[in-house]
Amino acid sequence: MDTDAAQGLTHGQTASVQWQNFSVPYEYPVAFVRGLFAPDNPLFADIVARREPAKRHRCYFILDDGIARALPGLIPSIAAYIDAHSDRLEMIAEPMILPGGEIVKNELAHVERMQDAIHELRIDRHSYVVAIGGGAILDAAGLAAATAHRGVRHIRIPTTVLSQNDSGVGVKNAVNFKGIKNYVGTFAPPWAVLNDFDFLTHLPKRERIAGISEAVKVALIRDRAFYDWLETNADALATFQPQAEEYMVRRSAELHMRQIAHGGDPFELGSARPLDFGHWSAHKLEALTHHHVRHGEAVAIGIALDARYSVLAGLLPEGMDERIVVLLENLGLRIWHPALENKDAGGELALLTGLREFQEHLGGELTITLLTDLGTGHEVHEMDPKLVRQSLDWLKARQAK
Ligand SMILES: NC(=O)c1ccc[n+]([C@@H]2O[C@H](COP(=O)([O-])OP(=O)(O)OC[C@H]3O[C@@H](n4cnc5c(N)ncnc54)[C@H](O)[C@@H]3O)[C@@H](O)[C@H]2O)c1
Ligand SMILES: [Zn+2]
Repeated sequence: MDTDAAQGLTHGQTASVQWQNFSVPYEYPVAFVRGLFAPDNPLFADIVARREPAKRHRCYFILDDGIARALPGLIPSIAAYIDAHSDRLEMIAEPMILPGGEIVKNELAHVERMQDAIHELRIDRHSYVVAIGGGAILDAAGLAAATAHRGVRHIRIPTTVLSQNDSGVGVKNAVNFKGIKNYVGTFAPPWAVLNDFDFLTHLPKRERIAGISEAVKVALIRDRAFYDWLETNADALATFQPQAEEYMVRRSAELHMRQIAHGGDPFELGSARPLDFGHWSAHKLEALTHHHVRHGEAVAIGIALDARYSVLAGLLPEGMDERIVVLLENLGLRIWHPALENKDAGGELALLTGLREFQEHLGGELTITLLTDLGTGHEVHEMDPKLVRQSLDWLKARQAK
């Protein structure tokens, strides 16, 4: 008999440490399509039924009011689609329509409303919550779905450029809490992501342009050839030519997916977050303008700022910053906003507190991605406030030209 074990542990003793160890492979399809709900398109039904093909699957739809208003025929066409595939699909209630944009993320009440519906409608872990909308709705619905029953199946149907080429294909969701962006959220890979380009034609021009900045971002840190392609096709993108827009969305989504799957840190345990290039100042600028500046617009400014900073820090050859700014401008994006100069109560540049907030959100050491070339990111752990101020001066003078 093991007498130690039988006698039990005395205070301050450790008998043994056993390491639990398992891994779960994550896999989900990201599809690019037009006419997702055309009755003869089997994609949606196939994806819902992929695990249990012989069953009739319960689906509950949550819609962004922006797309519901812009496309009044959407709900009837979903209903007709479900009818046409009624051997495999069932719509268990009228879709819920929620306010799109940051409003839905600013009040936990919206998440609670979705959880209420999930509960009332007896949506279990084998039923589907299907969210259709911009990144904000997908974030809020993703959180509701990920936390009800510890996670019900969740399908994302992104309807903005930004959610199709970036946010919708990833593994995160979140809403804002006490004014802090993305404070309450989880990592929860979706069941599927279905990007239907047709939705983009209903987007306000401003939103449609804003999302392109995420493609510029990921090209700048990872893919020189894509960056060159963006330069060559800037006019086609700014005028929404379908082929160019499709390729931009697809390539950007692919690069985001690759970073998540192969970057070594899908659930962001470390301090580095290369996909947040240009984002430390972007998040702050969004907050300083109470989200009047759209996320994508703020990212364009953040990219311009960090490009100039990279030059001033001696990392990026002079002139590359100018080239990046010209691309952003050709795409119809601005590189300056007066709120960049806001001062806090102590008379300090408010933007600089964005660095601390960014670090707090990531945890660990401050890690900012800068550039050493077009297509090559480079991590630093310090930002010199003097160079940030000089970068701002350059941007301000540059846009006044
Ligand atoms: N989870 C992530 O990894 C991640 C990554 C990046 C950004 N985000 C989040 O995404 C959000 C921004 O998302 P977004 O840029 O997609 O915009 P959005 O969700 O804020 O939507 C913008 C506006 O467009 C409307 N809209 C959406 N689709 C439409 C369509 N097809 N036609 C007409 N109107 C439409 C919405 O109602 C809203 O008014 C931010 O909250 C940001 O934090 C999340
Ligand atoms: Zn972003």
